[in-house]
Amino acid sequence: MADLNLQEIHDTLISVAHEAGRMMLEANPTDLDKGTKLNSVDIVTEADKAVEALVSSRLSSAYPTFAFVGEETYKPGVQITAAPTFIVDPIDGTTNFVHGFPSACISLGLAVDRIPAVGVVYNPWRDELYTAIRGKGAFLTVGANWGVEGGKGRKSKLPLSKNPIPLGTLDQSLVSIEWGSQRDGVNYEVKTEVFKKLCAVKENGGAMVHSLRSLGSAALNICAVAAGQLDVYWEGGCWAWDVCAGWCILSEAGGIVASGNPGDWEPELDSRKYLAVRGAPSGQKELIEEFWGVIGDRRMEYET
Ligand code: IPD
Ligand code: CA
Repeated sequence: MADLNLQEIHDTLISVAHEAGRMMLEANPTDLDKGTKLNSVDIVTEADKAVEALVSSRLSSAYPTFAFVGEETYKPGVQITAAPTFIVDPIDGTTNFVHGFPSACISLGLAVDRIPAVGVVYNPWRDELYTAIRGKGAFLTVGANWGVEGGKGRKSKLPLSKNPIPLGTLDQSLVSIEWGSQRDGVNYEVKTEVFKKLCAVKENGGAMVHSLRSLGSAALNICAVAAGQLDVYWEGGCWAWDVCAGWCILSEAGGIVASGNPGDWEPELDSRKYLAVRGAPSGQKELIEEFWGVIGDRRMEYET
């Protein structure tokens, strides 16, 4: 990693994110790709594919020797290697995009040695740009394209709060989850049972979390955890392109990612099961263990 200019890569990714963001704002979200994926809720639009084509062309001309893994061109079986690899979701939150719900983004990550080294996540509808370089902190810049503060936008270090409430137990936590597109089988059962148990009163064996949230984009969920707006994010079924950029941002904001199945403190980037907890001086491991206790003997099974 020493010979890579991560700052320059980060700056390139921001400029690509802004260009892609303009394309997303101009796209017709109802222009669905008819060769749709798993089922009627696993949506892909023409914009997903066009944005990925733009990103891939920009990045391959700037960094021709780097590998590229993008959601829309991914072929099953392709592995992420130790080589510098751009890991890209052109539109994360496609369902929101189609419905006009302004919670979608482009997620641009660079992994080196299979570890996120640069992350850029941009929601053009809110002009919110999350960025991080490994070892250099994580930031949120709002309004750069809306001309806020002379066109530079308002840049804040993550987590946002100067005086955050201490990280507590689950009954003090705001937890984000996602339903995903697979709505049957063991994974759906595990998720729905855990959702129910997270919310239930303690007298009935529940964890009584403050509430559940779903931003509809794995990357934006992780960024909200990095910002300290959510305490925990749990999901199974998402892919490396959903989490790579956000993972770098979260780590740089002091957060950690464990496995979404109990027992593994160091999940692989492409393990497809994640439990992210926000930055805090203490309590992260205890909160993860408490969450794993809610999962109990259940296990999500996603092919990697
Ligand atoms: C999806 C979103 C969603 C998550 C799914 C992802 P997409 O990505 O991140 O929040 O629950 O696991 O696949 O389809 O909008 O790119
Ligand atoms: Ca996507």
